[in-house]
Amino acid sequence: IGKSVCGKDVYIIQSGCGEINDNLMAPLIMTNSCKTDSASQLTTVIPCFPYAQQDKKDKSQVTISAKLAANVLSVADADHIIAMDLHVSQIQVFFDNPVDYLYAEPGVLKWIRENISEQKNCTIVSSDAGGAKRVTSIADSMNVDFALIHNENVKDLVAILVDDMVDTCGTICHAADKLLSAGVTRAYAILTHRIFSGPAISHINNAYFQAVVVTNNIPQEDKMKHRSKIQVINISMILAEAIRKIHNEESVSYLFSHVPL
Ligand SMILES: *[C@@H]1O[C@H](CO)[C@@H](O)[C@H](O)[C@H]1NC(C)=O
Ligand SMILES: *[C@@H]1O[C@H](CO)[C@@H](O)[C@H](O)[C@H]1NC(C)=O
Ligand SMILES: *[C@@H]1O[C@H](CO)[C@@H](O)[C@H](O)[C@H]1NC(C)=O
Repeated sequence: IGKSVCGKDVYIIQSGCGEINDNLMAPLIMTNSCKTDSASQLTTVIPCFPYAQQDKKDKSQVTISAKLAANVLSVADADHIIAMDLHVSQIQVFFDNPVDYLYAEPGVLKWIRENISEQKNCTIVSSDAGGAKRVTSIADSMNVDFALIHNENVKDLVAILVDDMVDTCGTICHAADKLLSAGVTRAYAILTHRIFSGPAISHINNAYFQAVVVTNNIPQEDKMKHRSKIQVINISMILAEAIRKIHNEESVSYLFSHVPL
């Protein structure tokens, strides 16, 4: 850190994506350096939580990496953590320190309202049972139905598939095929954390999606901009307003339902 932060409130922002271990270590070192320099209040802002998908122990040799990542943040002495759309709510109990959770949902709803004209003929779709709560909440706000990919009638509707975290996109692209066979008029995918590894882009290009919309929780580097199907929801203002509110000791709950202007 270039200058003393002694007595200051400090906010460290780093998304846990890309070179994930470097991007986990960097905020840990910065947090701890600021603590050593007697910063008064330290907040670590992690838009995409590292290892969020590794949230359970399904084999005896496996560790719960998401829990380990939460634990080391506590050890580095962050007073406060800000995260967005954690993959499963279970991760919340991994933290020892106070955490403010933010949701991409207001940004998602805003994108839908500005970009999809047939609001009443939409259905919000989850590709698995785990996402049911998320899609129900969005569908309720829009006053439309929601569907799980297996069993609902979506004929003649505009399907909006919503997911929090996707990697190779195999599952959502398979879901798009199913929606097409079921007779939807169009399909969109809206994703909070796009990891997009391996064949993700080619999967998306070949899939029946009008647009695949992602947040910039993970930086959207230039190469993404040239993929015509990919559009970006800018969540910067949600984070900025959360920081402002926390700094002023206000509740962040307004941001659960509103996008700050
Ligand atoms: C979605 O809405 C935003 C804001 O009005 C606009 O900039 C963007 O081009 C729209 N995208 C599409 C596909 O219409
Ligand atoms: C909604 O779907 C119905 C039945 O397919 C159609 O008649 C109507 O025009 C659609 N409304 C809009 C706004 O697209
Ligand atoms: C996102 O929004 C912020 C605040 O309005 C703006 O400063 C930033 O340039 C935007 N980022 C992109 C990639 O458009």
